[in-house]
Amino acid sequence: MKVALFGCGGQLGQSLAAVMRGAGMEVQAYGRGDADLADGAKVRATLLHLQPRIIINAAAYTAVDRAESDAAAAARINADAPGIMALAARELGALFVHYSTDYVFDGAAREPYDEDAPTAPLGVYGATKLAGENAVRSSGAAHLIVRTSWLYSNHGHNFLRTMLRLADERDELQVVDDQFGSPTYARLVAAATVRMLDAMADGAGWRIPLGGLYHMTCQGAVSWHGFAQRIMELSGRAARVRVTPISSAGYRAAARRPAYSVLSCDRLERCFGIRLPHWESALMECLERARGLA
Ligand SMILES: NC(=O)c1ccc[n+]([C@@H]2O[C@H](COP(=O)([O-])OP(=O)(O)OC[C@H]3O[C@@H](n4cnc5c(N)ncnc54)[C@H](OP(=O)(O)O)[C@@H]3O)[C@@H](O)[C@H]2O)c1
Repeated sequence: MKVALFGCGGQLGQSLAAVMRGAGMEVQAYGRGDADLADGAKVRATLLHLQPRIIINAAAYTAVDRAESDAAAAARINADAPGIMALAARELGALFVHYSTDYVFDGAAREPYDEDAPTAPLGVYGATKLAGENAVRSSGAAHLIVRTSWLYSNHGHNFLRTMLRLADERDELQVVDDQFGSPTYARLVAAATVRMLDAMADGAGWRIPLGGLYHMTCQGAVSWHGFAQRIMELSGRAARVRVTPISSAGYRAAARRPAYSVLSCDRLERCFGIRLPHWESALMECLERARGLA
């Protein structure tokens, strides 16, 4: 199975490359230097030349606050590029795998959002990611769109690594306690994606009815403050570092974020038999892997 992977330098892209190669898949991995998603013609030419059976897009404009003042660039990467890749996938008869976000929701709900819940992004990042989903859906390609949330891993830019770094510089961390979501270990999303690919394969074609939109996060929900507190406890820093709750208003970010963006992952379990672990055990696994214990 020849796979074209975009965004191989990101936290999910790195995990995907490692897990897929570990599973014996032939992966052609592209970073920004190999294929800039802002150059749609080059992305398309790259794909038509490679002729992959699977195209995976783990690249995105993920700077949520910067996107507010850089909307055109965010739209090119998050909305236009996935559409171009999906159209190339249709031409090639390839399966297109794309990732989206809990930020397509406004966070007004008080129970987990399922895939059919109405979307209402609060900011440019969420709006451009939603436009990307729609472009993939309307391409006519066999596809999987996986919405995930609060991704972290042992590499790249993420909340876990930021908290660990700041904890080594300060004795107090101020973290918002009025946004709730499901922290999700990128490596688990990568491994679950490979299981979905296996299930989708059907000889030379794809099990089209299994395709579509899926929510995929770790189980349970917590505030950023609660997540930070648990990171301190599990990494042995809780006695030295105080984690103080603040409100989102006190944090003053450029982009508004949903107050509650927990996703229901029942469809994923029903259709693929996949359920990611609780966020606390996933966090433990990630920290153990960093210490070389897993
Ligand atoms: N991070 C989260 O909390 C989160 C939550 C929900 C959903 N998601 C979604 O999950 C997916 C993976 O996210 P992630 O956390 O792994 O993101 P990430 O670590 O920020 O990685 C994104 C990757 O995209 C690449 N990229 C950005 N602009 C590009 C361009 N113009 N051309 C080519 N590559 C470009 C980046 O390259 P550079 O390193 O060169 O910038 C980076 O390697 C994305 O679809 C994201 O929207 C993420």
